[in-house]
Amino acid sequence: MATMVARASKPAIARRMIEDLNPPERILMGPGPSNIHPRVLQAMTKPLLHHLDPDFIHIMDKVAEMLQQVFGASGGFTLPVSGTGSAGMEAGLANLLVPGDHLVVVSHGFFGERLAEIALRHGATVTQVQGPWGGVIAPEDVERELKRHRKVKVLAAVHAETSTGVLQPLEELTKLAHKYDALFLVDAVASLGGAPVDVDATGIDLCFSATQKCIGAPPGLAPVHLNERALSAVRGRKEPPRSWYLDLGLLHKYWEGGTRAYHHTAPISMIYALREALRLMLEEGLEQRYARHRRNGLAMRAGLEALGLKLLVPEEFSTCQLITVLVPTASMKGESEPGSSASTTSR
Ligand SMILES: Cc1ncc(COP(=O)(O)O)c(C=O)c1O
Repeated sequence: MATMVARASKPAIARRMIEDLNPPERILMGPGPSNIHPRVLQAMTKPLLHHLDPDFIHIMDKVAEMLQQVFGASGGFTLPVSGTGSAGMEAGLANLLVPGDHLVVVSHGFFGERLAEIALRHGATVTQVQGPWGGVIAPEDVERELKRHRKVKVLAAVHAETSTGVLQPLEELTKLAHKYDALFLVDAVASLGGAPVDVDATGIDLCFSATQKCIGAPPGLAPVHLNERALSAVRGRKEPPRSWYLDLGLLHKYWEGGTRAYHHTAPISMIYALREALRLMLEEGLEQRYARHRRNGLAMRAGLEALGLKLLVPEEFSTCQLITVLVPTASMKGESEPGSSASTTSR
C-alpha cells in the first residue's frame, strides 16, 4: 500500500536572528528609573537559587534587615513586595482597607489621585483633601476633613509627589491620623533613600516605596514596611484582602513567619539587585546620602535659576532628588508659564 506522506507546511522559520541586545547608555535624568551602580547590575548575573533554598532565605532575611534600617524601623514587618511601586501602594491599601472603610487622601498631584483610585477599587469610601499641584496641604484642611467623618480608617499621603516635586511634611499629618484613631499610610516611592523617611520617628504606620528611584536598583520591587499597629489591623481582618497576590498576611509567612511557606516564586535576581543596592546605601551612610542629594538638588536649582528658568516649588517644600521646572513657552517671550513641568533626579 502506498504510503501517503503528507508534507506539513512548516511554519516559516525566521532566518534572520534577532540581533544582540544592545541598549544605548543614557544618563537617566527623569524621576526614575535612575542609573544603577555596576555592582547592582553584576549582582543580577549571580547564579539563581530556588526560592525556598536556605541560602536564599538567608539572603531574604538580610534584605529585610537592611530595608528596615533604610525605613528607620525597629520592629514591625518589612519586605520587598514583588512588583513596582504601584504594587506597594495596592498592597498597603488592600490590606488595611475593608470594603466600606473610609479613607482620607491628601491629594495634590498625580499619585495622590492614584491612591484614591486604588482605594475605591478595593471598596473604600474615599475623600480627597485637595490642594493646588505644586503646593503642600495644610494640616488644618486635613483635620477639618477628619472631623467631618464618624470613623476614618486610613489617612494617606504622598511624601514626595513626583508629578510636582513637592515634599509634603508628614509630622503634623501623623499626629492628626493618630488623634482621630486612623492609620497613617505614606507613599515614599520618590523619597526613600533620598530623603529621611524614618517611619519610627515620624510614626508612619504603613510605608511603601519602589526600587528604581533613590534606592538605585532596577524597577520591579516595592519595599513595604508595616509597624505593629498596621500589622494588628492586618491580623484583625475578618475577611481576607481582595488581592491574593498582595495579601501581606500570606507574604508574612514566606518572608518572616516560622514556616517560610511558599507563596509565589520570588524574583530571585531582583532580590540580589536590591541586596547590593542596599549594601551600597548603607556603605555610603544614610545621612551622607541625604546630604548628597540635598547638595546636588540645591546646585541643580541654582543652575536652573541661573539659566533664567523658573521652578515650580519653593526651596522650602521642594524635594532635592526631583526638581520641577516651569517650561517657558515661546509666546511668553522668556516668561515661564505654570502647568507644564519637567523634572530631574539624582541617584
Ligand atoms: C510618588 C509615586 N508613587 C507611586 C508611583 C508608582 O510607582 P511605579 O511606577 O513603580 O509602579 C510612582 C512612580 O513614579 C511615584 O513617583
